Amino acid sequence: MAPSPTAPPGPKRFLSGIQPSGNLHLGNYFGAIREHVRLQDMTSVGESYYFIASYHALTSLRDAAKLREFTTDVAVTYLACGLDPDRAVLYRQQDVPEVTELMWLLLTVCPMAMLENATSYKDKVERGIPADAGLFTYPVLMAADILAQDAHLVPVGKDQVQHVEMTRDMAQKFNRFFKADVFRIPDYKLGEAPYVPGTDGAKMSKSYGNSIPIFEEGRPLEKLVMGIKTDSKGVADQKDPDADTIFKIFRLMATPDEQAALADRYRAGGMGYGEAKKALLEKINQHFEPMRQKRKELLARPNDVEDILRAGAVKARANARAVLDRARTACGL
Ligand code: ADP
Ligand code: TRP
Repeated sequence: MAPSPTAPPGPKRFLSGIQPSGNLHLGNYFGAIREHVRLQDMTSVGESYYFIASYHALTSLRDAAKLREFTTDVAVTYLACGLDPDRAVLYRQQDVPEVTELMWLLLTVCPMAMLENATSYKDKVERGIPADAGLFTYPVLMAADILAQDAHLVPVGKDQVQHVEMTRDMAQKFNRFFKADVFRIPDYKLGEAPYVPGTDGAKMSKSYGNSIPIFEEGRPLEKLVMGIKTDSKGVADQKDPDADTIFKIFRLMATPDEQAALADRYRAGGMGYGEAKKALLEKINQHFEPMRQKRKELLARPNDVEDILRAGAVKARANARAVLDRARTACGL
């Protein structure tokens, strides 16, 4: 007989996190936040939990003021982009310290080879981030985040899929070793826009210096958009919209008709990239203006944002406590 109770039945739970390691950009918005906000409407299917992965950010950020600033930025961004605290739970990772104890339990069942094979770890080390034990065991902390909330589904971008697979593996091993259904085995869910290019055409990333921040506006935004790299085709030349960064970003915000109209102009020739950039700039302004306003309102009410985060932490902590108690019982603590 199982020595500890199974995860209780209930509505499905979606869970995802974003690191507060820099100002969020269009890649984060289309690749993660928009998808997360959409999921909150599926209340008949499940409940949404989103958190600010502050412990994870410490693997790359060692500046207390910046960490605080970016943590608030992630919270305000989620709320400005439509996350509704009455329908979704938003919290800071550091407000649920149970995940660090759970991480230890998972470390004891996590094979070294699995961590050594993590592509994101290898990429980060290649990019010059110091290979300390925090960075190396990052996926185990991520597994603790997911398992602590009994999550069913983890909406992530392609780069995080391997981490969710590792989470499944650790959860299955723990359940098997201790002969108990302690952890629910989660699945991942890939977003609709798993890849947003940056101004240089490579994947948009905080760390590549090629990003367009979600709330950039005015002249700084114009400079970024006008600086997007293109091939050297002249105004008269026919162009391939699918090979062009401007178009790839434009289509994320445009209706099918707007996409078809701009694509036709690319293919016909007679339109320079400068004109396409203006169309993109207008699209970004149109799409994000209401969210910019909402963000300014939220920044003027920091106590309300704090209240939302604290209320979220109360719910997340209660879930984490229950999971941790099951895990402790199962392994004899
Ligand atoms: P960054 O590469 O800027 O550090 P993160 O790794 O913190 O971004 O990603 C946070 C979330 O945003 C993840 O779910 C990730 O998959 C998504 N994301 C980041 N960059 C992009 C991108 N260029 N296109 C699509 N999704 C992205
Ligand atoms: N590793 C994720 C990223 O860099 C952030 C993250 C931490 C996360 N814990 C998580 C995402 C749990 C989903 C679930 O994007």
